[in-house]
Amino acid sequence: MNQSLPAHGGTLINRWMEGEQRQALLDEAASLPAVPVDNWALSDIDLIAVGGFSPLEGFMVEEDYHSVIDSMRLKDGTVWSIPITLALEDSLFGSLSVGSRIALVGESDQVIYAVMDIESLYKADQKHEARKVYKTDSEEHPGVAKLYQRPANYAGGPIYVLNRPSKSKFAEYHLDPAETRQKFAELGWKTVVGFQTRNPVHRAHEYIQKSAMEIVDGLFLNPLVGETKSDDISAEVRMNSYHVLLNHYYPKDRVFLGVFPAAMRYAGPREAIFHAIVRKNYGCTHFIVGRDHAGVGDYYGTYEAQEIFREFSSDDLGITPLFFEHSFYCTRCGNMASSKTCPHDKSAHMHLSGTKVREMLKQGISPPPEFTRPEVAEVLIAGVAERALT
Ligand code: ADX
Repeated sequence: MNQSLPAHGGTLINRWMEGEQRQALLDEAASLPAVPVDNWALSDIDLIAVGGFSPLEGFMVEEDYHSVIDSMRLKDGTVWSIPITLALEDSLFGSLSVGSRIALVGESDQVIYAVMDIESLYKADQKHEARKVYKTDSEEHPGVAKLYQRPANYAGGPIYVLNRPSKSKFAEYHLDPAETRQKFAELGWKTVVGFQTRNPVHRAHEYIQKSAMEIVDGLFLNPLVGETKSDDISAEVRMNSYHVLLNHYYPKDRVFLGVFPAAMRYAGPREAIFHAIVRKNYGCTHFIVGRDHAGVGDYYGTYEAQEIFREFSSDDLGITPLFFEHSFYCTRCGNMASSKTCPHDKSAHMHLSGTKVREMLKQGISPPPEFTRPEVAEVLIAGVAERALT
């Protein structure tokens, strides 16, 4: 393991139970109150289990929750920007008490995933949470809509994880933080830049990744494959597109592809901090933040997700953000550029909105090669066509 890079908060958390302890907890869980958990909560449980969310050992207790919402820190001062909470239906909430234990059971498969010590039971003001975390309380925002779908009763406390959601979809690319740290050490990478994405890698993404690769040892291409909104391109199609791109355009020994199994919050600036911290746990020393990182619609300013980093010292974060301007292909420069490197006016810059690209793909039209590599376009068109048939 890369010992030189501490996890966030100092220690890479491991809440995964094994052997006799696991068996004893499984036996006990059978008679505990069962709390159903959805896929979103399951991905949180799994990321807590393997230390992706270090230093969290469970779902947030009330003090941490308020502290995170109001000051982007846990109550002990550690930077943390997104609440990680367990929501309970009214009937269950009323029947539980602090000091007791619950079993967290998959709502679709009835598997007992974890046991939790209840240290805190509290009511949330979800509008306040939405305004603080998402900077809007509008239900039109996909992260806020998701928040409002959940009951406003939260339970916090440490979890003991007994089963893990199946990794089968992308098993080969689903590595835990201890494994990616090991991998980076084997590759001899002292500096690793993490790249978050919920999209195919277009030329602008490629440009900022490769600009970063010029100054670090390796790139950790870490696409988010947890829940996303329904009009985002599916993780399966994206994974196919990453493979062709890497095969044709990246040096094999300088890139490592691994999935990030978290749900997408679309919380813009706050999610950028969260994404950076979590990638530190995976062993990254650097993290890319480009234009409107983790944004949606017009809720955040183009560079707000970069500006928020000013609120924290480098010791607070322990990972170096690499900021990139909005990038594009300039027909006059004849290459990828940004306002930092290109003197030409907008008429020379190629711009395609996400909506426009999706429309083109649906019609079987490849976006221009200056926007998307042809091999990637081919995979996306096939993926979109297949989706239309199902
Ligand atoms: S995100 O929701 O995961 O942030 P996306 O996959 O589009 O969305 O972006 C991945 C990363 O690339 C983010 O850091 C984002 O800011 C950056 N990015 C996307 N498009 C551009 C662009 N044209 N110029 C500069 N950075 C970009």
